[in-house]
Amino acid sequence: MQQPLTSSRSARLSGRVRVPGDKSISHRALILGALATGRTRITGLLDSEDVMATAKAVAALGAEVRRSNGTVEVTGQGVGGLLAPASPLDFGNSGTGSRLMLGAVAGNPIDVEFTGDASLCRRPMGRVLQPLNLMGLEVEEERATLPLKIRGTEDLIPIVYELPVPSAQVKSAILLAGMHAPGKTTVIEALPTRDHTERMLGYFGAELLAEERAEGRAVTICGDAELHGAAITVPGDPSSAAFLIGAALIAEYSDITIESVLMNPTRSGFVEVLREMGASIDLLDLRHEGGEPVADLRVRSSALEGLRVPPERAPSMIDEYPMLACLAAFADGETRMEGLSELKVKESDRLAATEAGLKSCGVKARIEGDDLIVEGKGGVKGGGLVATHMDHRIAMAFLTLGLGASSPVTVDDTTMIATSFPDFLALMTKLGANFS
Ligand code: S3P
Repeated sequence: MQQPLTSSRSARLSGRVRVPGDKSISHRALILGALATGRTRITGLLDSEDVMATAKAVAALGAEVRRSNGTVEVTGQGVGGLLAPASPLDFGNSGTGSRLMLGAVAGNPIDVEFTGDASLCRRPMGRVLQPLNLMGLEVEEERATLPLKIRGTEDLIPIVYELPVPSAQVKSAILLAGMHAPGKTTVIEALPTRDHTERMLGYFGAELLAEERAEGRAVTICGDAELHGAAITVPGDPSSAAFLIGAALIAEYSDITIESVLMNPTRSGFVEVLREMGASIDLLDLRHEGGEPVADLRVRSSALEGLRVPPERAPSMIDEYPMLACLAAFADGETRMEGLSELKVKESDRLAATEAGLKSCGVKARIEGDDLIVEGKGGVKGGGLVATHMDHRIAMAFLTLGLGASSPVTVDDTTMIATSFPDFLALMTKLGANFS
């Protein structure tokens, strides 16, 4: 059942908070833990529906997953040691869990059925299946969307693959499969996408090489890899922090600090663009935790100015565009966000959903090709009813927009927020946000 919610104008957000663990790193820690020998101890794993679906999937494939004292321990089966699950693996809403797992199971001689919710079953899987097919994975009925049945093989073939779309999920699926193949598997990306899989594979003991080539960044994994269980600390999710940052910028007289936020350069585009727009965001105590850069972010209410966001920036902030577009409406002048074709194949068509949501709140916004243009007027009328299309980030972005708008903003459903950020409402309320 849908659960609508309304947010209204708020001021003086304040306090120190910590956002939950990064979703991308959480999925990867569970999957690599299942492919490693020995025990992987994960601290700060994101406790959300998406990540729990991956935890259930790795358990169904033979890994032991146990919670103890705030940590999650995974005891793996080793590379090539996954077992056939007794029933279909249900990934719920999660593109990351399902796509990475397709790569992880490809090198095991097992039959596996993948399924998910209505949103996930509409999303393109061909982008992952096509390179995995080249490596030897069989797909029943050659389907390109979930639900689908696949047959893995011990005899995967290594490939060299240029990504046709900038996708960390596709890159990761190929690298995970490449571990099982003899020889070297290389993925080349024209624009750098998030690199958590490479970092974590290296940390677990796989041999990898990253180099710049004329065509882009090439990542090579040496096959017949062995992974060894390791201790992982998951930093705070910058994609969740984005909503708190947005709220503090537009709610008057706000001053908040968000602790231990991941600042990996492949993920920090949102903060960088906002600082260029005039946002007061201080990066405090920049440090390394668990092999990733993190910082505490102090965010204060700010007057923003519109600007052009070029397409090269998209991969480093791909999940943050709905929030950025909402903030652009509070800026002075036009913000043109370019090269957003990938937004059309997220949990919803985020390009269309963002434009429609903005318009329903009295903001002038338009789509030109793959670009989204927002006319900032220094403030937002609000008053709209926003359709979320089963998309957690659309729900959170527009609830945040309502905190700065003149009239309250209602989103038609909040249930999907639990897929990535179950504490969203509690944390925002703690800072002083008004929801009803
Ligand atoms: C993710 C990669 C991105 C992102 C998603 C998480 C990942 O998707 O949108 O939320 O963890 O690898 P694409 O790989 O489809 O760009």
